[in-house]
Amino acid sequence: MLSKKPIMNRTVLYKIFEFSSAHRLSSDKLTSEENWDIYDKCNNINGHGHDYYLEVGITGDIDPETGMTIELEEMDIKVNALLQQLNYKHLNKEVPYFKTTISTGENIIQFLWNELDKSFTNQQLYYLKLWETNNNYFELKR
Ligand code: NI
Repeated sequence: MLSKKPIMNRTVLYKIFEFSSAHRLSSDKLTSEENWDIYDKCNNINGHGHDYYLEVGITGDIDPETGMTIELEEMDIKVNALLQQLNYKHLNKEVPYFKTTISTGENIIQFLWNELDKSFTNQQLYYLKLWETNNNYFELKR
């Protein structure tokens, strides 16, 4: 006889968030010429902007009372609290972390992961995907 119990009670809920930021790619370990060679137009002295999309995957057991992995409102509050620190900001100039860390997509997603992992305790954070443009994205998973 088949058991009614599912094989796995663990699921992942994904939700997409947006934020817009300006930044400039520049390394103080490189000369102006080297910076321009590596980062090209992303090294533009006055910066440039992106409309970022962030896909967040949260995992957990399905709550038998609600039938949900996590309440969407809780997810919104935690992610938006973090994205508010970046939204409509010049990352290099206004976000302390990126005053000393180059604001590449790789470093932005690392920052987002570390911060969200503090908010979503018990290893609830499972997946992040950061779209920088329509053609490129960065990914992290547990
Ligand atoms: Ni850029």
